[in-house]
Amino acid sequence: MTYDNPALTIVSDEVKDGSIRWRSPSNIALVKYWGKHGDQLPQNASVSFTLDGAATDTTLHYAARRSAGEGVEVELFFHGESKPDFTTRTKGFLERLLPIYPFLRQLSLRIDTTNSFPHSAGIASSASGMSALALCLVSLEERLFAPLTDRSEFNRKASYLSRLGSGSACRSVYGTAAVWGRVPDLGESSDEYAVPVGDRLHPVFQSYHDDILLISRTEKAVSSRAGHGLMEHNPYAPTRYAQANRRVVTMLDVLRTGDTERFGELVESEALTLHALMMSSHPYYTLIEPNTLHVINTLQQFRRETGHPVHFTLDAGPNVHLLYPDVVADPVKKFIREHLLHYCEDKMYLADRIGRGPEELAVNETTNA
Ligand code: DP6
Repeated sequence: MTYDNPALTIVSDEVKDGSIRWRSPSNIALVKYWGKHGDQLPQNASVSFTLDGAATDTTLHYAARRSAGEGVEVELFFHGESKPDFTTRTKGFLERLLPIYPFLRQLSLRIDTTNSFPHSAGIASSASGMSALALCLVSLEERLFAPLTDRSEFNRKASYLSRLGSGSACRSVYGTAAVWGRVPDLGESSDEYAVPVGDRLHPVFQSYHDDILLISRTEKAVSSRAGHGLMEHNPYAPTRYAQANRRVVTMLDVLRTGDTERFGELVESEALTLHALMMSSHPYYTLIEPNTLHVINTLQQFRRETGHPVHFTLDAGPNVHLLYPDVVADPVKKFIREHLLHYCEDKMYLADRIGRGPEELAVNETTNA
């Protein structure tokens, strides 16, 4: 499929200045996307929970450009400060969208963006940031041209555009949980955009918590982009892609039936497999740290002693995400405070949970994020 549309150009004199604002959350992969090909297409399917508190709030201001130039005219402000490096990345992303949105060349854009989580928390902001911007763009298309056929078409297009900015961002467009990548028996699934898990999610998972233990807030040595690239020559890659595709099918079944034990086995194995792939790349590298392993071992002991269904997952970094249902929230939070916080940098963790997905906000509305 293609969204390329040379007809989407504006008559500059008819466009009034305006602003659009979206808040979009981050997500945590349960079955990981690791390895890509072509234009941001995944080597395997992935599933994630959408978070609630960790989010990006983006306002897109637009005005007709005085004289149409070659590229896109944009400036990005992060927490009120002009950011040349973010501006360059965003400009590159918007210019790649010109075949889809040729009108972007005819506008002057200013983007104001803030994250709800501390900048140096070691939390990837590309999923929330790219999805928030993509949602603003699809809203802008609707404002300048015509509404899309329905909500699901709106979300699909926003997910497609998000993917072009950052693969994992395409899953942030939906509340609770999302699947990205072609999955047999999931008719609407695609490598080009994510689809919602929706009512195939058992109630036990709808109350899930994700407490993010901040083991280290140092910028990671190898970016996800570079990590994906190293999968091209990883000897385990073909086996891994087949495994992940099978696991997505199993995970969807687990999410539907509410089996928290099988859920835990799968997410923990996925986390360790992701890091094993980094360790078996050439050149090899490690992103986990000694305290990552201390947390994992202490958690497993707590689980053996209490039987509480609390499991870990990892992103492409040393921080540990603890996933558990609301019924065990009190003992788990006590355990975190008493036994895990001293492994965290500055004793910091972010308490998050499954969220309802992005929301469009009134411009200038303040959020409590
Ligand atoms: C480990 O989506 O950040 O978080 O497409 O290059 O922007 P790019 O990569 P990115 O990779 C995320 C990898 C992961 C697993 C996941 O979210 O599925």
